[in-house]
Amino acid sequence: MKRTFIKDVADYDGKEVEIRGWLYNKRSSGKIQFLIFRDGTGYIQGVLVKNEVKDEYFELFDELSLETSVIVRGMIHKDKRAIGGYEMSVTYLEIVGQSVDYPITKKEHGVSFLMANRHLWIRSKRQAAILRIRAEVINASRDFLNNHDFTLVDAPIFTPAACEGTTTLFEVDYFGEKAYLSQSGQLYNEATAMALGNVYCFGPAFRAEKSKTRRHMTEFWQVEPEMAYADINDAMNVTEEMLRYIVSRVLEKRKEDLKILERDIAPLEKCSNPFNRITYTEAVKIINDSGTEFKWGEDFGAPHEEIIATHFDVPTFVYKYPAAVKAFYMKRDTEDDKLALGFDLLAPEGYGEIVGGGQREENYDTLVNRIEEFKLPLEAFKWYLDLRKYGSVPHAGFGLGIERTVRWICKLHHIRETAAFPRTLERIYP
Ligand code: 4AD
Ligand code: MG
Repeated sequence: MKRTFIKDVADYDGKEVEIRGWLYNKRSSGKIQFLIFRDGTGYIQGVLVKNEVKDEYFELFDELSLETSVIVRGMIHKDKRAIGGYEMSVTYLEIVGQSVDYPITKKEHGVSFLMANRHLWIRSKRQAAILRIRAEVINASRDFLNNHDFTLVDAPIFTPAACEGTTTLFEVDYFGEKAYLSQSGQLYNEATAMALGNVYCFGPAFRAEKSKTRRHMTEFWQVEPEMAYADINDAMNVTEEMLRYIVSRVLEKRKEDLKILERDIAPLEKCSNPFNRITYTEAVKIINDSGTEFKWGEDFGAPHEEIIATHFDVPTFVYKYPAAVKAFYMKRDTEDDKLALGFDLLAPEGYGEIVGGGQREENYDTLVNRIEEFKLPLEAFKWYLDLRKYGSVPHAGFGLGIERTVRWICKLHHIRETAAFPRTLERIYP
């Protein structure tokens, strides 16, 4: 008999199949038992009727506790009322592994208990749905870039220098030398873009974020495209097209998961409209007009981004930030040296920054001055400066944070649910 995944049972209406999974739930009316199985691809109800199925299977009921692993066979038939639209008349049932006193029950558990049991919590309906959506976001961003002739080039994780400021570096001992876990692949992307044109890297980034927030992790994943012969507008255009594609893929392929999360998809559907683009200065005005005091020149905190991200119902670019609050590599605005040609993309519904990017400084002398101004070690950036010595060109790119994007698409309160094993200030177990 053919082993089938639950997601495919519709193809076997009226036929017998084998499913290998786990027990998700059960109830019995004495003569009829209802067992809900899950296999990671879906859920299906199996029905056992006394005297219609062998006693040895019917008698397994008491042993079938939550998360017992089982192999079941049975006839598939359509049933509008059943979860997934199909039901299985069980003809064979075998316990593979028992599950005694499974710690996560149907009752409410506290977050710290669930996080300590994250290795089991991911089996729950909601968490599995989020992980499938995360996979779709990652696949969609890769597909988008591959289809637009961006070449994937991986950036190293052990690095000799800081990319995004020295306050969040994780230091490691590299055979007696100081090295750091990568905060971003960008600097290396700038080198590979000069070799290959349009490139991207996709990988983990590490930041020793010492504040507890609902949107920071110490380890997160970024997809970072970089383009030679491109400016800030080109980077915003690609960001917009790419995010629109990601959202449309999730809407198309992960409808069922969005339903499990009870996600209102109307705000996601609005992403097919043009995104907003406002300057930092315009954003400051919106914040002040909303009654919140904010001084021009400061960096936005979560509450400020939230004001802007609630003001509009599509993703909003904020660009031309004060150079002082942005990274050393950002090119300055030729019309106003106080401004950097950088942007953030803020997700609507109050979510805030999910993408950071901009145009890079391509002039050798200017960049040397910046590195010195930011008190970074010139020696470590020698190779990076070479890129400005040998055929430098205007270039731009961005980094899209996977977890931030998933958090918004799934409309989650906290970023910790967006990764299977999130790393945050207070947690490294399991
Ligand atoms: O804005 P960031 O710091 O930009 C960079 O790293 C650039 N070098 C990217 C580039 O231009 N190639 O980070 C980019 C994105 C943020 O917008 C956010 O989505 C995510 O990475 N991010 C985090 N996500 C979770 N936890 C954290 N601590 C994050 N820090 C940044
Ligand atoms: Mg940023």
